[in-house]
Amino acid sequence: MKHCLICSGCVETFIDFGRMPLGNAFLTAEEFETEYFFNLAAGVCESCFAVQLTDQPKPEKMFHSRYPFFTGSSGRMSAHFEEMARSVSARFLPGSDPFVVEIGSNDGTLLDFFRARNIRHLGVDPSSNVAEAAARKGVQTLCAFFDEREAGKILSEHGSADLILAANVICHIAALHSVLSGIDLLLTDAGVAVFEEPYMRDVLEKTAYDQIYDEHVFLFSLHAVQKALGPHNLELFDAQREWTHGGSMRYFIGRKGARPESEELLRLLAEEKLAGMTRMKTYEDFRGRCEKSREGLVRALEGFKKDGLSAAGYAATSKSTTVLNYAGIGPDLLPYICDTTPEKQGKFTPGVHIPVRPPEAFRSPYPDRALLFAWNHAEEIMAKEKDFLLSGAKWLVYIPHVKTL
Ligand code: TMP
Ligand code: ZN
Repeated sequence: MKHCLICSGCVETFIDFGRMPLGNAFLTAEEFETEYFFNLAAGVCESCFAVQLTDQPKPEKMFHSRYPFFTGSSGRMSAHFEEMARSVSARFLPGSDPFVVEIGSNDGTLLDFFRARNIRHLGVDPSSNVAEAAARKGVQTLCAFFDEREAGKILSEHGSADLILAANVICHIAALHSVLSGIDLLLTDAGVAVFEEPYMRDVLEKTAYDQIYDEHVFLFSLHAVQKALGPHNLELFDAQREWTHGGSMRYFIGRKGARPESEELLRLLAEEKLAGMTRMKTYEDFRGRCEKSREGLVRALEGFKKDGLSAAGYAATSKSTTVLNYAGIGPDLLPYICDTTPEKQGKFTPGVHIPVRPPEAFRSPYPDRALLFAWNHAEEIMAKEKDFLLSGAKWLVYIPHVKTL
């Protein structure tokens, strides 16, 4: 039995994927023998209902000088972050010499908005390659893991922060209380922290089990975040659902008692209860749906092979690592996956070792069936790949159900 990383309550495992590599550990053939595996399983805390991995690989194994994920690789995500920067600045940025900090600033896509407006800012990211990409844009960046100690250093060097932002980052950090203590230390009294993270309610509603992988130490709910903020001088005052990463929640956090709780926050909290997020049975039912989804996907790919239809994967997402390894799908069923990230091309996917090819390989010629792993970018991809359907080919999707389109 494991203890909750948020409240020390008992964590009940509800899905165990078994031996799993890291979602983003794309590798060369020479590295196959030394590939790292861990046991991927998710549990839910009986007392605060925080969904969390029961075993976490060391952060240094996941975030390093060869981190292959660049925020700017999706046009729609870049547009989303511009909207986020614009709206939080309008709502929360004070007039005189504000200071904005971003935790997990990646390639500086979000902070670039503040840089362009000469607003004092600092990004913190432990992966040196993405941090360097941000620095090249002129975004002030510190290559470090954000925690209480680092927050203290930032405070003494730059003063307190009016706005602390994080997108798809806080859920990656097992030492959540150290991060929250850091925010508590660094934030001005009137300051606001805004972070958005994949939302467990969407995972449940879409049977999006592929959101469970090494980097997602937590899949948060409002209830879990409220509980996590409890010991700190911080509280939730507003929340907003977002479409990003297949369904996210944007959390607005201020000092305790500083702002009234919004009606939207109260409504969303009540909805979590109605959706069964504070009942253990909901998570057991989810496991049953995941098993069905996995069987359906393998059956579809085996069917293509039997019918002589060629198949390929579209986008070598970190999420696809869970799907491929959980379902045991290798190059025999899916000979290659195309992806726009140069760092992934020419390498193999973690665990099942499917070759990753550049996007041009998708068009020459089109496969008969393409398995869409970047389902969270479906709109952008379907618009870009109109000719694929015109060629008579079809998409295979698995979210929210396995089907060909
Ligand atoms: P994400 O789902 O974690 O945002 O990762 C997106 C991955 O999908 C990343 O490796 C880039 C890839 N991708 C494509 O290959 N083509 C596309 O059109 C898009 C939007 C993403
Ligand atoms: Zn708990």
